[in-house]
Amino acid sequence: MLRIAVQSKGRLYDETMDLLKAAGIKLVAVKRTLLVPSRNFPVELLFLRDDDIPASVASGTADVGIVGLNEVLEKRQYVNVLRPLGFSRCRLSLAIPKDEEYTGLEWFNGKTIATSYPNVLNEFLEKQNIDACVHEISGSVEVAPGIGMADGIFDIVSSGGTLISNNLKEVETVIDSEAVLIGNDKYLNDEKREVLDELIFRIEAVKAAEKKKYMLMNVPLDKLDAVLEILPGIKSPTILPLADDRWRSVHAVLDEKDLWSVINQLKNVGAEGILVLNIEEMVP
Ligand code: PRP
Ligand code: ZN
Repeated sequence: MLRIAVQSKGRLYDETMDLLKAAGIKLVAVKRTLLVPSRNFPVELLFLRDDDIPASVASGTADVGIVGLNEVLEKRQYVNVLRPLGFSRCRLSLAIPKDEEYTGLEWFNGKTIATSYPNVLNEFLEKQNIDACVHEISGSVEVAPGIGMADGIFDIVSSGGTLISNNLKEVETVIDSEAVLIGNDKYLNDEKREVLDELIFRIEAVKAAEKKKYMLMNVPLDKLDAVLEILPGIKSPTILPLADDRWRSVHAVLDEKDLWSVINQLKNVGAEGILVLNIEEMVP
């Protein structure tokens, strides 16, 4: 049984659950108990605060974890990043009151910066030769400048909404973050290693299928070349015969972002019966 530490609530929770579901992992009951086993895959989920996930994996309490890279970098625990997961993207940034004139990083010399990420911030300031006072607080960092507790902040920015509603502006991005799968191979026995390999395989399959569409269409034989030309960068579309020998069935995989422009071009050259499927639904 492989134990996966995941966030119990917060920005990572929903997308972590979506990923595991897409990977075919069903839970016994998603009541917020601490430890929840799967009913169809040899894993159990350990629900924790995101701040505690790196330590739980470093100590072997959990075998792997799903957590933001920001927490991994801040907590300095002995863990390996096994795979970036591409969701919960955010950045760790410096922000200051919006009416301040920002003159560059030197602005922070002699200033006080409030943050929940003192390790990452101190390392950055040292590297940049900025002499600022780092004031660690554990939550509501964004209110610190408004109440005179700090001159600026260093915190997670995602939509930017929190900064705007606190009259702050982002002036430097220090680190780009996203959810990552972390592990610690010190404690893995063969059985757990096998489950982990299967888990990673399934995650890869889900990621590969994301944002891809499977497209089918009927194409008159004399339009086949024109159609194949419109399907750029699409590796080997499959061409199948139809009962009517003047037509072919063409199947291709394409990026979601190209979907509408490709469909319009295909219609213009005479493709018919265009059908688009989600690939996610085809992953077993
Ligand atoms: C972070 C951060 C901000 C907010 C920024 O808190 O501390 O408050 O998100 O997001 P926005 O740019 O979309 O407004 P979060 O809710 O993740 O809580 P945590 O830091 O305690 O985990
Ligand atoms: Zn947190």
